[in-house]
Amino acid sequence: MSELQPKIDQVRTILANAARDYAPVIFANSLGAEDMVLTDLINKYQPDIEMFSLDTGRLPQETYDLMQEVRAYYSVPLQIFFPDARRIEEYVAQNGVNGFYDSVELRKSCCHIRKVEPLRRALSGKRAWITGMRHEQALTRGVLQVSAFDVDNGLQKFNPLLDWSNAEVWEYLKQYEVPYNKLHDRFYPSIGCAPCTRAITPGEDIRSGRWWWEDTQNKECGLHVNKITPIKQV
Ligand code: ADX
Ligand code: SF4
Repeated sequence: MSELQPKIDQVRTILANAARDYAPVIFANSLGAEDMVLTDLINKYQPDIEMFSLDTGRLPQETYDLMQEVRAYYSVPLQIFFPDARRIEEYVAQNGVNGFYDSVELRKSCCHIRKVEPLRRALSGKRAWITGMRHEQALTRGVLQVSAFDVDNGLQKFNPLLDWSNAEVWEYLKQYEVPYNKLHDRFYPSIGCAPCTRAITPGEDIRSGRWWWEDTQNKECGLHVNKITPIKQV
């Protein structure tokens, strides 16, 4: 038995309990390495969990390639949510197509239009959502729980890979031959929109390639606002 097996079993239990207690459940799939582990596990063991991606309109080509591959490879349909075209037009008219480089405020409002508002639509009518966040990824993520009520979005939120290491994520992807974003092979451990993500150098923090021009404490896009209520473990 692989050393990873107990962790895989733990994730399967979390997914099964979520599907049993909180249906309908949806998985937010960014197509990053962690999310490909969950894509594989959900498709194999819990296909009643739906999945979606937020297409911000600014994703790297490699992410679109993987999106297409996931569609062909897996049976759970990957639903795609787009931003509201009018709001993008207004933002671009006021700030320019790359206005997000000008201030943290403009960066956050771009993320709000391209990610947060479509997320609200994706989660509408669901009782729980699942993410691929891990403790190790950022200081801001150290306080997360495997299962907690997400006050901002009004539903339960599960982070089944919370205590997985980066090495374990990659061990899973290799062992089960899971497709992954080719940018990971070019020193992009964390991938978001193309203009806001760059490669890192060895030894740098894994999220240092995201919004690299901003302070570390600002580096969340608003999808995960950590207003967590009393913890409810599964
Ligand atoms: S972010 O807040 O910095 O953008 P990150 O890329 O680390 O987030 O991803 C954390 C989790 O948020 C992912 O595991 C996934 O569940 C969700 N997520 C992030 N981006 C997307 C996206 N484009 N579509 C769907 N879910 C996403
Ligand atoms: Fe806009 Fe960059 Fe946020 Fe993507 S990551 S929504 S391009 S600011």
